[in-house]
Amino acid sequence: MLKNDSELPPRILLGPGPSMANARVLDAMSHSMLGYLDPDFMVVLDEISDLIARLYKTKNLAMAIPGTGSAGMEAGFSSLLEPGDKVVMCLYGHFCERMFEMATRVGANVVPIRAQWGEPFPEELLENELKNHADVKLVTAIHGETSTGICQPLENISSITKEHGAMLMVDAVTTLGGTDLDVDKLSIDYAYSASQKCLGAPPGLSPVVVSDEAMATILSRKTKPYSWYLDLSLLANYWNERRIYHHTTPVSMMFGIREALNIIFEEGLENRFARHEKNAEILRSGLKSMQFDLLGSGKSRLNQITPVIIPPGVDGNEVADQLLREFNIEIGKGLGDFAGKIWRIGLMGESSQTEYVFAFLSALESVLIHQEFPL
Ligand SMILES: Cc1ncc(COP(=O)(O)O)c(C=O)c1O
Repeated sequence: MLKNDSELPPRILLGPGPSMANARVLDAMSHSMLGYLDPDFMVVLDEISDLIARLYKTKNLAMAIPGTGSAGMEAGFSSLLEPGDKVVMCLYGHFCERMFEMATRVGANVVPIRAQWGEPFPEELLENELKNHADVKLVTAIHGETSTGICQPLENISSITKEHGAMLMVDAVTTLGGTDLDVDKLSIDYAYSASQKCLGAPPGLSPVVVSDEAMATILSRKTKPYSWYLDLSLLANYWNERRIYHHTTPVSMMFGIREALNIIFEEGLENRFARHEKNAEILRSGLKSMQFDLLGSGKSRLNQITPVIIPPGVDGNEVADQLLREFNIEIGKGLGDFAGKIWRIGLMGESSQTEYVFAFLSALESVLIHQEFPL
């Protein structure tokens, strides 16, 4: 047991999140408390809302709702869908399956389209499926499937969805702030993310954006959403000019995310996306030169997560444990179908730094030499 926190050395977090938080963000979180309806705090909320909308490239309503990425996911399903509503879901990884589980719990009429994990989702499957249905309310997809390292192109999914008059919900948990996502151009009705990955803040908030059509749909529901806490219309009434109390806002997290968003725009979106791409490329080259096989190829590779196939004869858990114990480097393990088969190396937000890539590659080399693996 730890006697005090100072015994815990700082970690280099190269897993699927949380990623490292910027020191300025942690400092901002030590701001003294303000009441959740304090007029000065309302200014902070407005700034956050503007910054989130700029990051998602949208004019839609933007909020930071309490909870992690799964809260944003659940707010979407519980608010947008009523029991019996038809939702067509593009499924290609572990987090897609979490979305499927949530939609099922709503009692929606769920139409899953399952595709190969580790490959981009073939959009023609969506086109073919939608031809069989006249009454689809919602289509769902994930921009960056963290379990497989796939960055899903969304242009065709969006145009097919819109041709069929459905709304589009997109998970941007892993991509927001690290890869371009143009919500207005893609006509995305609801997108959600998380504070702890490419934004460089601790876990605890889910930045979401809701289109006018999505909000109108929520306001005209016949039944109330099963979740009161994550009811997007109630949350909106606090974030809009009505300022109606809904829950006690996590004040420190708000100061933190505002600073994180300011840092993102100081760096510049294009520079930030390029940094994520460059560091992922250095990592892939390093791993390939050590003869590792990586999942995925070409443009669909996610810069935020590099999935590495654990070679036969290597104890994947032991390597990850040794990296943490001896080098203070955290990496991710495989999830679902990929459990025990891959490592997931995350380079997101503050964690996407060239010096961390080199620290990881040299630590991995030492650990493998220790395991007598022929490099
Ligand atoms: C793509 C994706 N969606 C949703 C989630 C769930 O987010 P959280 O763990 O913040 O609740 C994750 C978490 O890693 C994720 O990678």
